[in-house]
Amino acid sequence: MKFLLVGCGGYAALYVREVFSPLNTDGHGIEGIVDPYADRSPVIDLIREHNIPVYDTLEAFYEKHSAEVAVICTPIGLHLQNALTCFAHGSHVLMEKPLSATSELCRQIIDAAKAAGRRLGVGYQLCYDPIMLALKKRIEAGEFGKALSMKALVLWQRNFAYYARSGGWAGHINLPDGTPVYDSILTNATCHYLMNMLWLTTPGYDTLPALSIEAQLGRVYPIETFDTAAARFTLPCGCEGMLFVSHVAGVEEENAPTMEYRFEKATIRVVTGANGAVLTITDEKGETHEAGVLCQNVIHKTNEFIRAVENDLPLTCPGEAGLATVLTYEKLFENGLPDVEAIKPVIREEDKLWSPHVGKVLKDAFAQRRLPREMGKTYGA
Ligand SMILES: NC(=O)c1ccc[n+]([C@@H]2O[C@H](COP(=O)([O-])OP(=O)(O)OC[C@H]3O[C@@H](n4cnc5c(N)ncnc54)[C@H](O)[C@@H]3O)[C@@H](O)[C@H]2O)c1
Repeated sequence: MKFLLVGCGGYAALYVREVFSPLNTDGHGIEGIVDPYADRSPVIDLIREHNIPVYDTLEAFYEKHSAEVAVICTPIGLHLQNALTCFAHGSHVLMEKPLSATSELCRQIIDAAKAAGRRLGVGYQLCYDPIMLALKKRIEAGEFGKALSMKALVLWQRNFAYYARSGGWAGHINLPDGTPVYDSILTNATCHYLMNMLWLTTPGYDTLPALSIEAQLGRVYPIETFDTAAARFTLPCGCEGMLFVSHVAGVEEENAPTMEYRFEKATIRVVTGANGAVLTITDEKGETHEAGVLCQNVIHKTNEFIRAVENDLPLTCPGEAGLATVLTYEKLFENGLPDVEAIKPVIREEDKLWSPHVGKVLKDAFAQRRLPREMGKTYGA
């Protein structure tokens, strides 16, 4: 099958690269690309080499082509309009996460898919990974007993270019024209990790939101939202989930996603090393078994989505599941983020900002499963 790719720079460039790589085991191709800024994409030469037609608008693409599947990988503020147009032209949609900025907009997308009789999947890659799918089955079968606590730590230093990409939607609550975005380190960049906790512990694939959320937020970059957070959730199964994340902990403190999920009869860990993210299961006897390296390729989730569409199989990350993180995080914004700490000191380098205590504070908080303030700490000096 040849699918439509909406967006071809940023993360979408990976779709182009992987389609033309040995990872593309199912041999699906790209019918056309819609991106008015395609010339700026790092894969524009690859696109031209393979003669993929490029259009500025979806309407221009659909005038000349049809596509059974559209993969949408554009800034969050465009997700709703992109999805509605693709459904109106008969495409099934694989939407990059987060599904949209607010639960209301997510529901509009879900309803439009239903009205058009098309499938809607969300691109949380961990929901397509065979190791995670097998783990979910074992959790649902009760093999590990009840979930006791789940936590994850992600420290990714981000630079000015990250916050400036595509005209600067990152870190915004609304765009200047009022379009909601609600982009932050929790709601977008690291939303995989809340999603994974919710998805693993909600039976079936229609993942439920957390029952409660409390968070300690901080900011170094001059953005409307926040770039640092420690958050505690009551997961739908009743157990506690915690996330510790920052974009400003500095390069030295970088910490690729680390997860630890404690169950009555096992502890599940994901640690990211040179070979990728490795999932291990430690049983009641204290013996650790390696389940393998998680597959986070974009072509894998695309293949799985197309397989589900072609064979009328259940989606492992349907539109309804995409609501779960959005509904959870919406509660954070209800009062207008009054308590975001202005983290100090700020180290300014040519390409980035960071703060020297953030990494240690979050690593300690992760180790103790507490918010920094419960340990008497702020993110700054
Ligand atoms: N699954 C993941 O791990 C993952 C990782 C990164 C980003 N994402 C998601 O992918 C999406 C895109 O994020 P990004 O970081 O690549 O953003 P970006 O701003 O870097 O790029 C988005 C692409 O959309 C294009 N674009 C802009 N306006 C457009 C329009 N009107 N029509 C079509 N294309 C247009 C841009 O030119 C660019 O190529 C977001 O939803 C983001 O959350 C997912």
